[in-house]
Parts: sequence; C-alpha cells; structure tokens
Amino acid sequence: MRTTTLGRSGPEVGVIGLGCMGMTFSYDMETPRDDATSISVIHRALDLGMTLIDTADAYGPYTNEELVGRALAGGHRDRAVLATKVGLLTDSVQAADPGNSSPGASRDGRPEHVRESIDGSLRRLGTDHVDLYQLHRVDPRVPLEETWGAMAEAVAAGKARHIGLSEVTVAEISRAQAVHPVTSVQSELSLWTRDALAEVLPYCREQGIAFLPFSPLGRGFLAGRFSSFDDLPRDDFRRGLPRFQQDALRANLAIVGRVRRVAERAEATPAQVALAWVLAQGRHVVPIPGTKTPRYLADNAGAADIRLRAADLAELDALPVPEGARY
Ligand SMILES: NC(=O)c1ccc[n+]([C@@H]2O[C@H](COP(=O)([O-])OP(=O)(O)OC[C@H]3O[C@@H](n4cnc5c(N)ncnc54)[C@H](OP(=O)(O)O)[C@@H]3O)[C@@H](O)[C@H]2O)c1
Repeated sequence: MRTTTLGRSGPEVGVIGLGCMGMTFSYDMETPRDDATSISVIHRALDLGMTLIDTADAYGPYTNEELVGRALAGGHRDRAVLATKVGLLTDSVQAADPGNSSPGASRDGRPEHVRESIDGSLRRLGTDHVDLYQLHRVDPRVPLEETWGAMAEAVAAGKARHIGLSEVTVAEISRAQAVHPVTSVQSELSLWTRDALAEVLPYCREQGIAFLPFSPLGRGFLAGRFSSFDDLPRDDFRRGLPRFQQDALRANLAIVGRVRRVAERAEATPAQVALAWVLAQGRHVVPIPGTKTPRYLADNAGAADIRLRAADLAELDALPVPEGARY
C-alpha cells in the first residue's frame, strides 16, 4: 500500500489504517464475538500495509486494547503503528456511545488520570510504548494545557512516541501545540459528515499535522450495508443515531444510490469510493475504517488504488446533505 508520514515527524504508515472499535464495542453487540477472526483481520491488515492500528481504553472498556494486545503478541508489534486513546470514560450506559457523551459527564482529562491510564493501556496492549497516544475528548473541566502536558510527560518517559487529539477545534489544536507538538487529529469525516473540511482539516494541512478520519464509511451506511432500520442488528448503537432512524435512513438512501453510481463508473465498491473521496482530501489524511470481516478489509485496502476522476469527485462533492444529525 502507498504510505505517508504521520504529521511532520511521525512514523510512516499505510494511507489507510484499521479501526478496531467494532471488534468488541458499539456495533453488533448481540452477535457472539469472534476474536480469532478479529485477530486474523489485524494480522492481514499489517500484511496489506494498513499499519496504523487504532484502539482506545474506552472501547469495551478495555476489552479492545486487550484484543489488540493479543493480536500484536508473538512478533507482530513491530509491524504496527499502534494508536490508542485516553480521556473518555465508558463504564456506564454511555459505553455504547462514546461520541455522544454529554459534555463533562464522562470525560476525564485530569493529568493524574492520564498518568495512570497510559500504564494500563501499555499493560493491556502488551508493549512498553504506543506510537500514538490520543486524547479522546477534551474535558471542559480541565484546562487542555494540563491534560496535554501530562500526555507530553508520557512522551518524555518513552511510553508514547507521539501524541494526538480527537474531535477538537482549531483553537484547541493551537493551544495544545504551544505545549507540545500535535502529531495527529482524529475526527469524523466522510461523504455524509464534512464539518472538518471547513477549518480543522485545512489547518492540519498547513501545520503538518496528520488528519485521521474516523467512521469514514458512515458507520457502514455509505458502504451500502443498510437499506432499512430493521437491517441494523438488535442492541447495535446505530439504532440510537438520528441518521439511522427509519425515515431519515430512507431519505439517506439517495446518498448511497449516488455513491453506487460513481462506484459502477469507477469499477469499485461503494466502500472504496467513500474511502477514495476521503483520501482525496489531502496527503495528510489517513482514514481508519473499521471492520472485523476479512472480505471488507481487503475491499477497504483496495481503495488506496482507486483514483476518482474529476467528474466523479465533483458528483460526490455535490451529494445531498444527510437527513439527521450525526449524534
Ligand atoms: N475518535 C473517536 O471519537 C472515534 C469515534 C468512532 C470511531 N473511531 C475510530 O474509527 C474507526 C472506524 O469508525 P467506525 O467503525 O465507527 O465506522 P466506519 O469505519 O465508517 O464503519 C464501520 C462499519 O462498516 C462496515 N464495513 C467496513 N468495511 C466495509 C466494506 N468494505 N463494505 C461494507 N461494510 C463495511 C463494518 O462492518 P463489520 O464490522 O461487520 O466488518 C462496520 O459495521 C473505529 O474502529 C475507531 O477506531 C473513533
């Protein structure tokens, strides 16, 4: 796979990474977990050059890091650029929806929490350092400089090589940069969630900061996975999201229809088109699509080789605004 550098001085990574959240958390909660398949998906991702492996202590909580740790044991650790996160507590009903936590309620950016958490993450991941330690959400009760300072301590202690932010504003990135270099910013970006294109993504480009789009497949919707609310597994947290409610979902199928049309012209799958559009937003962009399915993984890896024509990009740029808020 083509590679790029994470930020100005970060490691080289494949231009598409792997999000591991859904392997233990959020989606398909009813289906019995198949950890062996998930582990084989992580190994295959490394074989394919999808080296950025993204997890978080909040996913589970903890079970996702444990799974990734098991996958990277036995000689795979050095092949991965391992990224985890801190600062979001999901030990309650909120666990099903990390992005929708009410401000302050389940965030913890206290320096002492960061200092304790990195050790727990390293233990679960079975490693002495992570390549990228990310602040999952800014805690409005704690000055960002203090949280970020504690994350910089993890770098000084050799426990993290680089540090990054998630779901932040330009002003927050700039405040963090005054304390310690920001290597990456992770935020939602996809054909149906484009907020980052206005300010954050261009700012990252200017500043030499990597931008890591999460949910680049619209949580599976843009890949054409769902045509009705009833297609969503029971107990799946997408059932609570506005865009997946029956009426909104039906309206949003118009977006998928147009993605399919572009996909047919490009001889690609809808998922590949969705990822190729995200990749077209800049060389500093490294999407982390999530899958626990070998077939989807191969499909997603193939998106790195899809070159959309100007007319296709223009059609995708002009897609209708989705029905429903993202959370
Ligand atoms: N920073 C944050 O706050 C935050 C928030 C959310 C997510 N994330 C990160 O971003 C990663 C990706 O986001 P996400 O998992 O929410 O959404 P996503 O990548 O947009 O979509 C994942 C869904 O799409 C399905 N899928 C994947 N590839 C497919 C393909 N080629 N064809 C058809 N369906 C496909 C998956 O199915 P299967 O699972 O059945 O394979 C899963 O249901 C997460 O794993 C996590 O690491 C970060």
